Amino acid sequence: MKWLPKISLLAAMTTVLAGAPIAFATGAHAATTRYEVESAPAVCSGAIAANHSGYSGSGFCDTPNAVGSAVQFTIDSPAAATLSIRYANGTTADRPADISVNGAVVQPGAGFESTGTWDAWTTRSLPVQLNVGTNTVRLAATTAGGLANIDYLDVTTGGGDGSPTDPNIRFVGRWDTRDSTAYVPGWAGAHLKTAFTGTTVKLKQRNTIDLYYSIDGGPDVYLQNVSGTVNLTPTPLAAGNHTLRVSYRVVAGSYHGDAVFRGLVLDPGARTLPAAPARGTVEFVGDSITVGTTTSKNALTAYGWLVGEQLGLDHMQVAQGGACLVSTADGCVGLDRRFVKVSAVDGAVDHDFSRYQAGVVVINLGTNDVGHGVSTTQFQSSYVGLLRTIRGKYPQAAILALQTFRGRYVPQTQAAVQAVNNAGDRNVFFVNTDGWVPPDGLSDSVHPNDIGHRAIAAKLAPIVAAHLASIS
Ligand code: GCU
Repeated sequence: MKWLPKISLLAAMTTVLAGAPIAFATGAHAATTRYEVESAPAVCSGAIAANHSGYSGSGFCDTPNAVGSAVQFTIDSPAAATLSIRYANGTTADRPADISVNGAVVQPGAGFESTGTWDAWTTRSLPVQLNVGTNTVRLAATTAGGLANIDYLDVTTGGGDGSPTDPNIRFVGRWDTRDSTAYVPGWAGAHLKTAFTGTTVKLKQRNTIDLYYSIDGGPDVYLQNVSGTVNLTPTPLAAGNHTLRVSYRVVAGSYHGDAVFRGLVLDPGARTLPAAPARGTVEFVGDSITVGTTTSKNALTAYGWLVGEQLGLDHMQVAQGGACLVSTADGCVGLDRRFVKVSAVDGAVDHDFSRYQAGVVVINLGTNDVGHGVSTTQFQSSYVGLLRTIRGKYPQAAILALQTFRGRYVPQTQAAVQAVNNAGDRNVFFVNTDGWVPPDGLSDSVHPNDIGHRAIAAKLAPIVAAHLASIS
């Protein structure tokens, strides 16, 4: 909000509207109550505005650009809770705020980073201890920019129970969630993220599987052939809040063994907390190169994973060893048809694209089609088809068509991009990858090794970042 003359600013200062908080169940034992900033008893020290889209309720709070600009919520709680504040920040600068509960600052200078535009909203979560009964939660700007635009405060009590349906667990990538007791990851690089309280965490598996896990952002720990209830904390952690990421190991893009998530077991009375939100989502479509075949940790050391982690994005590899662009009569797994599926297996169901929208999609296909006799004409028309399929699923995404590292079907890839550009889709780009793989970056004639994947990621990350910034 711009500075207004003093009188009218004061008149606008306290906007309180009527309306009751909305409660809804968010999991087996969790309950969330939403407090809209435009509804009493919330206080917006600014104006309730509605001049940007995507807010919930009838508006959002736009405070003056000044230190001390504030929003205050009055909430009713039975005890410990997770607060999630929905906001938009259309500037490129952070809009930090001191967050106070009942007058005491519990998080000084909490970041409310850029969301790209004023129409793009995200949530910031923090676990807090509340009093039984009435509490106040206040956000006060600590910089001259004032607060971000604030939409609402969600108060979740009870936490999650760690089951597959627990809303505090974020399933990144393609997951088959039809069986609510056993979620199955599809394609490569699917993973789950959450946070939890207490000192221990165990993972409920079924039959044997290899997996990687990382606690509190530490190095990935590899467990081989584990089954049943798997202890991830042989040495208990310090009491407090922790984060967890789990991914199942793929070999050439397939999960060997029983890759299935059946839930977490936490300390008695402990609970999950929401996983930190990502800045956006990037999807990598390809074959064994995209899967990370011949690298030290497969999907986790592939360029897509590295780019996603480097940019703080949710990332996934819709890729399979040996895959082609074109589904061929001799049985090559073709991403032209399978891109929309939840996994690479024959007969897989369609992926539920309402679970997330990718901001950028990177395609690296064509290396294997040669071996299946795909003609240049067929390749080009199938590439156009895949670009259109992706566009249908992700209307806003920037789509990057990489030149295959071995230089296969390059003119056809370029021509396909040109064709959709000419047809009006300007958000599709050909990416020249000449010189991306250094001489010591290959482990055989086709597959980049760890050095190669790191070199590719270093080239690709800024390109993905630039496209993400221009669309958000
Ligand atoms: C713009 C935007 C407002 C926002 C303001 C700000 O004016 O439209 O919604 O609050 O910038 O910088 O805070």
